[in-house]
Amino acid sequence: MQPIQVDTQIAIVGAGPSGLLLSQLLNKAGIKTAIIERSSKEHVLSRIRAGVLERGTVQLLEQAGVSDRMHREGHVHEGCLLSQNDLQIRINFKELTGASVMVYGQTEVTKDLYDAQDEMGTPRFHEVSEVQILDLDQPQSRVCFEHEGQSKEIRCDFVVGCDGFHGVSRQTIPKSVRKEFEKVYPFGWLGILSETPPCDEELIYAHSERGFALASMRNPMLSRYYIQVPLTDTVEDWSDDAFWAELKKRLPSAVADRMVTGPSIEKSIAPLRSFVSEPMRYQSLFLCGDASHIVPPTGAKGLNLAASDVHYLVEGLIDYYHNQSEEKLDGYSDRALARVWQAMRFSWSMTTLLHQFPEDDAFTQRMQPTALHHLAKSETARQELAENYIGLPF
Ligand code: APR
Ligand code: PHB
Repeated sequence: MQPIQVDTQIAIVGAGPSGLLLSQLLNKAGIKTAIIERSSKEHVLSRIRAGVLERGTVQLLEQAGVSDRMHREGHVHEGCLLSQNDLQIRINFKELTGASVMVYGQTEVTKDLYDAQDEMGTPRFHEVSEVQILDLDQPQSRVCFEHEGQSKEIRCDFVVGCDGFHGVSRQTIPKSVRKEFEKVYPFGWLGILSETPPCDEELIYAHSERGFALASMRNPMLSRYYIQVPLTDTVEDWSDDAFWAELKKRLPSAVADRMVTGPSIEKSIAPLRSFVSEPMRYQSLFLCGDASHIVPPTGAKGLNLAASDVHYLVEGLIDYYHNQSEEKLDGYSDRALARVWQAMRFSWSMTTLLHQFPEDDAFTQRMQPTALHHLAKSETARQELAENYIGLPF
């Protein structure tokens, strides 16, 4: 039996932030898309992810027409804190760079994009399986999949893999073509959500001999906390009380003293890795976001890198369809990777600065407090961190 045909210009694999933002921006430019997603919409929206938005990401969401709720409910942060035991170092983004970041959960960004795409009426297929990306060397490529018990096929000009680290698109690029770089960190992050007021108005990235901790938030009554844990730990190893007690030992005592604790409404452990797969284009297939690269969350770069990939690809596709020029599409991979590697370096440096590495010798372990004390004294050092945190230019 012939598969059911869907014809479009751009087939997008994955309906996470990358795929949805790409589709929304292309649709607003009059370019047709169709999206396939392995999970249900509810499952995608159940994911708890960081939401520190760089200025470029905020501008892109404004361009996509999905920024109203973000501006109403998001929180502009003009700085963050780094701490080393009771030493608190404020990184004043506004003073050092003139810019700030927007704290607005990734789940909310994804919700806003789903609403906008539903309003756009863009074809989107959820709970698909058996996805295959074919004919990338032909004038028309094909994405074949199973959906609601039927075989379906999208015929398109280009395919964009927005299907994350475990997706099918990166694997479609022959191993002989791919060059992959990976660093797996010897620890994970145990994170909790609690319906409690955040312990500070700004994020606190804490270094302590006991291990890293991060105090973050989603809104004035929803806090997000993390502590570094060994990879051998499981969520079951950590009662709420044990978590709160350990978190307080890693934060400055003044912060710990004022902390409001409560039951966790979500608790999970995530591994940390740095990963890049080059190139981000193969024939008519492009990769965006986590499909091509993964950063440790210490620099809050994951969503923001997905946004800059989308920005570069949208520019290339608009040039292709509106001006019949392939120049920006041909330059997409190099352009996106240049920014990816800068974020890789920053995320690696923040992770290396703030976490306990069990294998480090005493000399190396002394480098961390030394670097933090330099940050406390040097405006230049704080400015270098701030310009990376608020986001290098697209
Ligand atoms: N077919 C269709 N969809 C797939 C497939 C597949 N074979 N494999 C994976 N997917 C879907 C996943 O279910 C997920 O919804 O692709 C989507 C990829 O979304 P993300 O993993 O969120 O990646 P991305 O959209 O690039 O967003 C990057 O999300 O993971 C965070 O920290 C990351 O903040 C960053 C952001
Ligand atoms: C979060 O709020 O989940 C968060 C914030 C900043 C990070 C990582 C995670 O760097």
